[in-house]
Amino acid sequence: MRVALVGAGPGDPGLITVRGLELLRGCDAVVYDRLAAAELVDEAPHDALRIPRDELTQAQVNEVLVRLALQGLDVVRLKGGDPYVFGRGGEEAAALAAAGIPFEVVPGVSSLAAVPAAAGIPVTHRGVADTVTLATARSADGGPPDYASLAATRGTLVLFMGLARLREVAAGLIAAGMPPETHAAVVARGTLPDQEVVTGTLDRIADAADGLPGPALVVLGEVVALAGRPGRVIREAATMETPGA
Ligand SMILES: C[S@@+](CC[C@H](N)C(=O)[O-])C[C@H]1O[C@@H](n2cnc3c(N)ncnc32)[C@H](O)[C@@H]1O
Repeated sequence: MRVALVGAGPGDPGLITVRGLELLRGCDAVVYDRLAAAELVDEAPHDALRIPRDELTQAQVNEVLVRLALQGLDVVRLKGGDPYVFGRGGEEAAALAAAGIPFEVVPGVSSLAAVPAAAGIPVTHRGVADTVTLATARSADGGPPDYASLAATRGTLVLFMGLARLREVAAGLIAAGMPPETHAAVVARGTLPDQEVVTGTLDRIADAADGLPGPALVVLGEVVALAGRPGRVIREAATMETPGA
């Protein structure tokens, strides 16, 4: 009886850790996120229970993990990216600890740096950015983030879960004092074969990113201008016409 909270990495199935893959290949049950690669779910033994997390609330996920472990099963909870970076891994760990279930956390390659890297963007760069701020575009209660503190950050700002409300977020940051000409990138489906990257400035990035598929990460700061030219960049806001301009 054991539960492992395993980071699946950002999308490319090759980016799981050796330890994570080993546990996955030996498990009795896998409870997996939508963002975890299907190829990784296929790595579980053919007779392992496979439970998608999609239809479950967080409380139900916690209950399922505890119940399966109490049945004596070795369980892998396969989570997108890293379990403890905007992944609610801490909540699952707390539920397991409260139920007296032994558990292990296997870190994953988080999208926080892997996805910008896949677009040629280093999140830190000597002399350009020595600070990285991670934030979600939605506060815990579903409301807007604290724009004033985000607008005041130095270095690089990496925003999770921001695509659907990018227009509102960009406007909120600009109203709170972030310069409209701040370099901006949106990286959609990072590390996957259909990755798309849009670059531009904060005031134009929402138009440029319109229609991109999720999941997507927003990167703001001078490091965006350092991006190499990976073959997957498909359009750049700076070269797009502004209607009416
Ligand atoms: C619930 S959070 C999970 C983050 C995950 N635990 C991690 O460490 O990467 C989901 C958000 O992560 C970002 N994300 C995850 N995978 C991504 C990918 N392959 N490309 C772009 N963004 C990604 C998106 O902002 C997405 O909305």
